[in-house]
Amino acid sequence: MVEWLKEPGFAGTYATMGADISQFMATFFTVLFIVGFVQARRGKAGVHHGLMLGGMTAMLAFFTSYYLFRQLGVLAFEGKEGFGGPKDLYENVFVPLLTFHILLVIIGLIMAIYMIVLGFRAQTFVAGRRMLRDAVLQTTWKRIGIVFGILTTVVLLLFLSRVAMAGFSLGKLSVYLGLLILAGLVFGFEITIQRIWPNGERRHRVLGRFTVAIYCILFVTGSITYTMLYILYPGKIG
Ligand code: HEM
Repeated sequence: MVEWLKEPGFAGTYATMGADISQFMATFFTVLFIVGFVQARRGKAGVHHGLMLGGMTAMLAFFTSYYLFRQLGVLAFEGKEGFGGPKDLYENVFVPLLTFHILLVIIGLIMAIYMIVLGFRAQTFVAGRRMLRDAVLQTTWKRIGIVFGILTTVVLLLFLSRVAMAGFSLGKLSVYLGLLILAGLVFGFEITIQRIWPNGERRHRVLGRFTVAIYCILFVTGSITYTMLYILYPGKIG
């Protein structure tokens, strides 16, 4: 499978099969989310729910397994090996663009999970029709404490089982600690956001538009990266 992903891709560029599949899936998911967004704007909440829930879950599953396959780090270092253009362009355009793209990937992954949870929490059914509840939706400190406590326990158990299986290492500790810090940041974000938009319906609409906008920018930055790496400047740098 790993070998197959490294074979020449199907688009006729310098890309590997893996890069072509990734670009194809990125296009597919972006179109899906835009359609899901349009459905929400038209008040077709049932279709919107199905598209967003199915699409986001499939996207999370695809990209996490795909990048685990490609060993995560490859994403960050791919440019250095594969970029054949001038060094200035690499340092001043390519690296900042890829860094921005990866930052958006992280925000996009967090927002996907966040929006699904918010969708379920903010929705209601009136005469069998799915809609957003026009009411205050705020999590109490107690609830946040409980959820964070459960999460910390799960992460700790995962960490301890990894240590028992493969031994302790600082790398492992920092990964699991990083996960907890990230979760803490998300909870901090949630507390701030729900103060700004206490109304669940408003929050879902505002953050939903923000999330769809993030996915559109992701698609653009990803496509520029693809074009630079596999069409305009293929090859090794230096
Ligand atoms: C996961 C990513 C999701 C995103 C990015 C998202 C985004 C949005 C946006 C932007 C709107 C408002 C459109 C507008 O008026 O401008 C909206 C409305 C809505 N969303 Fe979501 N949503 C997501 C998931 C969900 C889920 C999982 C549910 C249900 C469980 C849900 C239920 C609704 C409902 C009921 C509406 C109101 C539609 C109407 O106006 O009748 N959403 N969503």
